[in-house]
Formats: sequence, C-alpha cells, structure tokens
Amino acid sequence: MTNWIRLPNSEGDCVGASATGGERPTYQRHVGRAGFQGPSAQIFHRHPPVGWAVFEGPLRPRAFDLAKLAPGPACPLQARRFLFSNTMEVRYWKTDAKMHALARNADGDTLLFVHHGEGSLFCDYGHLPYRDGDYILLPRGTAWRVEPSAPCEFLLIEATADAFGLPDPKTVAGGATIDPMLFTLPRIDDAFRAQQDEAFWEIHIKRKGQVSTLTYPYNPLDATGWEGDLCVAKVNWRDLSQQRNAGQKVPPAAYCTFVAKTFSVSTFIPKVGEGVSGILRVPFYHSNEDVDEFVFYHRGEFFSRGEIRAGMATFHPSGFPHGPHPKSYQEKMIKAPVETDEIAVMIDSRDVLSVDESIPDGAEWKAYVKTWEKAQETL
Ligand SMILES: [Fe+2]
Repeated sequence: MTNWIRLPNSEGDCVGASATGGERPTYQRHVGRAGFQGPSAQIFHRHPPVGWAVFEGPLRPRAFDLAKLAPGPACPLQARRFLFSNTMEVRYWKTDAKMHALARNADGDTLLFVHHGEGSLFCDYGHLPYRDGDYILLPRGTAWRVEPSAPCEFLLIEATADAFGLPDPKTVAGGATIDPMLFTLPRIDDAFRAQQDEAFWEIHIKRKGQVSTLTYPYNPLDATGWEGDLCVAKVNWRDLSQQRNAGQKVPPAAYCTFVAKTFSVSTFIPKVGEGVSGILRVPFYHSNEDVDEFVFYHRGEFFSRGEIRAGMATFHPSGFPHGPHPKSYQEKMIKAPVETDEIAVMIDSRDVLSVDESIPDGAEWKAYVKTWEKAQETL
C-alpha cells in the first residue's frame, strides 16, 4: 500500500458554491487519489472544470444506450462484452427465456446486477428468487441458470481470475461497509426440488474466454442440502438504502459495495438530506486520478446529466475532470436542489478500461463528448 505524502494546506480563497452572504461562489472540483481513499483536495474554480472549448485525441468520455442492444444470446457467458480490462469484463444480457443449459464461469467471480425483470435463479446451492435492483454474487465455478417471469436485463461484471469481497471498513471513508446480514442466500425448497429431473442437461463452462460443454444424463443441480461458508448470495440496493438511511451521512467512497483487486463496484442510492438548499451533492466536479470510471444508470432522474436515461452507461477515463452538465448544475444543484432519486452502479478500475469496439454503432451516443461545449458560463 502506498505511503502517501500528505501535506495538509489551505491556500487562497476557499469559498464554496453553497456560500451565501456576498462571498463569491465558485465551481468546486474534488481531486483524489486511490479512488478518493488517498490524499485529496478541493479546488475552487472560477470557471466550470468541464468548460473545454475543443477536445482532440483518443481520450474522451463516452456514453452508451445499452437498452438498444439486441436480446440474447441464450447463454449469458456469451452475452455481448462491451467493456474490459486485463482483470475484468462487463457484459450486458437481455433475455426473457428460461435457460435450458447451465452456465459456469471458471475464469472468475461474476456479479449479476438485475436492471429489469424478475424470476428465479437456480444454482448449485438451491433456488433464489430475484427482482430488479438485485446484485447476485456468483462465486467462480458455480453452475447456474435463470427462469425469468418477465423480460430481464442484466449487467454481468466479472472479476477475471479474482474474487469479489466486501470493502474493508478500515479503508472506506466513514468506516461504512455492508452488513453481511443484508444478504439473502438460495434455499433448497420445493421449487428447487421440482426442477431436478433425469433429462439431458448441458453445463457451458467458460475458461480462458472459451466455452466448453459438459452434458449430463440428469440435472446436475441436484443438491439435497449443503453446509459451509461459500455460496451464491444476493443483496438489493433497497437493502443498502435502508442501512444508509438509518442515520449514516457518508462521503462518496462509502458507496463502495464490492471490491476486487483492481476495481470496485459502488452503488449510488437516494441520499437523505440532499434536498436542503445550499448543500452541494455528489457527484460534483471531480478528478479521480487513479481510476477509469464506468457508470450504469439504473433508475431515477439523473440530475448530473440532462440527457442520460435509465439503461444508459457512461465511461470516463482518467485524465480529465468530469461532473454535472452546466444546466443541471445551475438548475438542480444550485437554484432548486431536490432530493435525488437516482440509482446507479459505478465501477472504478485502476486497470485501464477499454471499450469493446464491436458494440453496435447505434448503441453509442457519439456526440456525448460535445455535450459540455456550452459549459462556458462563469458563476
Ligand atoms: Fe466520477
């Protein structure tokens, strides 16, 4: 772990945009290292930190409308990959069909986030009903399948050659982390026993990115019971929200939900007290210098980005600041702040993230980089 050089200081006029009484308002930019868990500074700018006039070169913010991707395929291991690094892969999978084969990822743990729909997940450990807003953690090697009872859309986040863990309370700002009691585990119940049959079943196994198939003359999800401390588990953002609203006021880094060695998964959930006029909310302008950032917008109104809808995603590589569009900043953060109802999943990756360029043209909002061009106004 880096032994950071920390030099606490205050220089010049440090006046926030929330200031009143004649003090000059400014645009605040939060600069941080190590996913905001290292040294940080608040810089007070006269102009919007995203007020660039021209943007050239390969480094650019990008936005995608994942809802526009075609449904399928039948096997989630072969769902469209649209983002990856050396140590993680992100896929988007739309399905309304019962899986007739099992999936097993031998490359790493998989985190399923249910964007839309509901149904049943059957796995080595039993039956687990799911609904929108659930994270389902599938340990490496687990055999599983889903039976949707409504059209489903999933974000699949794979920690390649790695495992997901919970954030360490000692390193999370504010000391907040996830209560393990919030997780729900699969059950060996009637629904699980009812799907055990003597038909031929395939397990599709992904290893080194390639899929192989095992065929059994019976359903291998045939457990009669299990014991131990390894299993599939789920937690919903609503459960996290309940814990958070039980009186905790926390900084951005405390929204971290799952961690792997090179990246973290955070959940932005409705926050209490942010409708108070003059309270500056996250995400405000920021430069998270050690990470590439990916955000998937699940539901609610995304106050920081005027044109972003649920089902869309943005990618902000390290190297330049980002934050609210000027119109949103003025109207929703300064003039008439409201309680935010946005829910989003954020991946911060210390490994360089790449967009899989096989993503269809129609699913990318190519003009996204230009949406800040009117950010010239000065407070
Ligand atoms: Fe960010």
